[in-house]
Amino acid sequence: MSADLPPLRRFEIPQLVTVEKNPAGLDVLLIRTPEAQADIFLHGAHVTHFQPQGAAPVLFMSGASYFAPGKPIRGGIPVIFPWFGGLEGLPEAPAHGFARTQTWELRGVSRLEKDVEVCLALHSSPESQALWPHEFELHARILVGPQLRWELEVCNSSNSAWSFEEALHTYFAVHDVRQVCVKGLAETDYFDKTDGFSRKRQGADPIRIASETDRIFGDTVSTCEVEDPASERALTVSKSGSKTTVVWNPWIAKAKAMPDFGDDEWPGMLCVETANVGDNRVTLQPGERHLMSCTLSVVSLPETAG
Ligand code: BG6
Repeated sequence: MSADLPPLRRFEIPQLVTVEKNPAGLDVLLIRTPEAQADIFLHGAHVTHFQPQGAAPVLFMSGASYFAPGKPIRGGIPVIFPWFGGLEGLPEAPAHGFARTQTWELRGVSRLEKDVEVCLALHSSPESQALWPHEFELHARILVGPQLRWELEVCNSSNSAWSFEEALHTYFAVHDVRQVCVKGLAETDYFDKTDGFSRKRQGADPIRIASETDRIFGDTVSTCEVEDPASERALTVSKSGSKTTVVWNPWIAKAKAMPDFGDDEWPGMLCVETANVGDNRVTLQPGERHLMSCTLSVVSLPETAG
């Protein structure tokens, strides 16, 4: 390997993984194996593309997304930490925390049996401490193969306890959100953000999307399944270390109000987020760690029928 190779290129694996700069100058890992494709930006440790061999892309990406330092990417899997939504007491703080807009350090890329393993890290800095006065380390382990597995480890590297919220804010690509249903959250309570956070209960039926939907389901560890008959597939998200699931679609007016989201893109996406927020926020003592993970799979619908 040539001594003047740019530092990130030492992580490349011939024929399988390359490192490039996107037009905005952000570093992105392009993974292309016989099992799957994925794109992972160091900006936010953000997976913007995942496609197992033989399947259509699993993740929605907005054509209007920013790809710029300091701005979140719209689509894929944003990493939300250490607060979800706004930060109480600091209205000017960025929504959903700062992990999604910082550049993560690439620690390793390896070929495992059917997967490519990508490890990234982010730790507290003067910029993070100006907003959130705690010392932390985040470790990401992303496995790209027939499934996508995302593991987020949060470590308290300070000498006092603190608590945090987190989410792997997955944007699924669907044919038409009005025709899908979400299974796995029946008989679960949720806070309805479109109705002043009022507490409601999902009945026995799967969730169908017929208006702006922004629901925070607490105390649930279930696997969720997004059945998308028009695409002849279901997308499943199973999880561990997560007690909250968020289901979000902005619908018409909110889509129009978001500058980094196309006015007509809302039918093509549905977020089902693996999270710990609100009452499920996590407290860590000094030196403690917490691991949350999600695994995304594609299942052809005939297999799920019945
Ligand atoms: C969801 C929230 O998780 O993220 C919504 O529940 C929010 O309320 C959405 O609108 C998108 O947030 P952002 O900050 O990426 O526009």
